[in-house]
Amino acid sequence: MSSVAAAAGKVVCVTGASGYIASWLVKLLLSRGYTVKASVRDPNDPKKTRHLLALDGASERLQLFKANLLEEGSFDSIVDGCDGVCHTASPFYHDAKDPQVELLDPAVKGTLNVLNSCAKFPSIKRVVLTSSMAAVLNTGKPRTPDVVVDETWFSDPEVCKQSELWYPLSKTLAEDAAWKFAKEKSIDLVTINPAMVIGPLLQPTLNTSAAAVLSLIKGAQTYPNVTFGWVNVKDVANAHIQAFEVPSANGRYCLVERVSHYSEIVNIIRELYPAFQLPEKCADDKPHVPTYQVLKEKVKNLGIEFIPVEFPLAEDFVTKKGSLRNLENAQKAEQDKLNEFCQLQMHAGLIMFFLFPFGLKFIYDLGLHVGRCDGASANASTRACRSGIRMNFVNHPLANRGGKNIHSAQTRTVPGHCGPGNTRLRV
Ligand SMILES: NC(=O)c1ccc[n+]([C@@H]2O[C@H](COP(=O)([O-])OP(=O)(O)OC[C@H]3O[C@@H](n4cnc5c(N)ncnc54)[C@H](OP(=O)(O)O)[C@@H]3O)[C@@H](O)[C@H]2O)c1
Repeated sequence: MSSVAAAAGKVVCVTGASGYIASWLVKLLLSRGYTVKASVRDPNDPKKTRHLLALDGASERLQLFKANLLEEGSFDSIVDGCDGVCHTASPFYHDAKDPQVELLDPAVKGTLNVLNSCAKFPSIKRVVLTSSMAAVLNTGKPRTPDVVVDETWFSDPEVCKQSELWYPLSKTLAEDAAWKFAKEKSIDLVTINPAMVIGPLLQPTLNTSAAAVLSLIKGAQTYPNVTFGWVNVKDVANAHIQAFEVPSANGRYCLVERVSHYSEIVNIIRELYPAFQLPEKCADDKPHVPTYQVLKEKVKNLGIEFIPVEFPLAEDFVTKKGSLRNLENAQKAEQDKLNEFCQLQMHAGLIMFFLFPFGLKFIYDLGLHVGRCDGASANASTRACRSGIRMNFVNHPLANRGGKNIHSAQTRTVPGHCGPGNTRLRV
């Protein structure tokens, strides 16, 4: 039986559906034929819902509900009648002023609140919790290239507290509370523990992990002396579904395609996009924080074959290495990736535009990369140019190679106030 046929008629709840990972999860669930009951904090906010309602299958099989992690019983009516629940909602940022209120309470109390609702409805076969490598790595043990991290590692709350790692503490305490509650109430719980998640955004706002990468291309002078595990958002969404579907799935699953220092990420971006202004130096003169290994054995049982992570341009990188099976796929991946990347840049540009009076100065400094973007990107660029703001338009590197879609792109001169050399747009 195909997975679509197996999913037909099944109902899965996704909490925090407007978030980065959850949006991809909703998309994949709908594409596999599931009915999705999705919780959002504000169903009337189009920024949080429009991209979900536009997904294929949404008009027939997506239901949106209002719920808040901190309201007891808030999830009862949502999980009622579900076969599975994916609990992804949890605040993810690093600059909390009041960590208890902003991070710890929603993570821990929210997880228990959702699980408490799940315990009331026997139709629920399994709960998949989005935990994090932040709940795995912070043990206090040294991590060096010969060290292999696996699912038996649990972050130590005391280590997190001492280092004021409030987000890792929130994920550690939430996962721990979830395991205890699930045992007590005989809930079949599986956790997905992703590293830094990167890849295309579906939602119109930037989440923390996408922002961490984007910071590199928005004029940063230095890159952080930090080593992270990295994983593509599509693998993370898929792993949630596999964790629900694969009967033998159990325990925790570390999701890390590769562990890299920021310098490596910068080098990859530089190779792909030589025109970008990227930081040349590390933020400090100390030796680079070492890498470590993460065992991939267990996650293979979920059928996950990691997409190579090279910035959010993963598929493009695969194309370059000739790993895609045929040219048609390669061309499509290239075009999709180009569109996705342009979308990401546009989001960044818009955010900067609204946040800072010198937002457009930023775009000028960065150089606006215009490929065969979606219409919105091209039109916005054109409008900005017409309005007399001088910009550096540079051709997106992908626009000059590969697929026929890209070759069919036209270069045209935009009439208006742009000076010579700054007027050629690829649209
Ligand atoms: N991105 C990563 O690199 C990464 C890595 C490992 C684990 N994770 C985990 O993956 C999950 C999703 O992360 P993400 O990157 O997709 O972040 P995100 O885009 O910021 O999404 C977080 C979601 O949580 C919801 N939320 C926060 N506080 C809430 C509350 N009090 N009540 C209801 N909903 C609330 C948010 O709702 P609103 O939209 O209303 O704000 C949002 O939908 C989190 O559990 C995070 O810890 C993320």
